[in-house]
Amino acid sequence: MSYKKITISTKVFEKADSIVTWIENRPVLVAKYNGKYYGMDAVCAHMGCAILDTVKNGHAICPAHGAEYDVTSGEKVKDAFVKPEAPCEYDESRIPLKTYSVREKEGFLEIDL
Ligand code: FES
Repeated sequence: MSYKKITISTKVFEKADSIVTWIENRPVLVAKYNGKYYGMDAVCAHMGCAILDTVKNGHAICPAHGAEYDVTSGEKVKDAFVKPEAPCEYDESRIPLKTYSVREKEGFLEIDL
């Protein structure tokens, strides 16, 4: 494992359940759920047109068409409410979304890429 410090203070999670940060040119959702931190690719696998930025009860919710993913595993737990009408750049073969181990160190978070 190779943890990399990310400049997110744990204090962020006093007022929010999640935040999106850019790591190595890709958006990563960082969430706190049941007292633990989780990292997950933030681009929705449905049509790839939205960033997963909202987490409720451990589920990241896509703002575009409502698909939901478990932040602990990256597995889809709810389908989108529309089907793509044309082939998309992103597809559901990306499920489960890639997840990352996240740990706290000295008030900041580190992520294992
Ligand atoms: S792009 Fe996320 S549900 Fe459609």
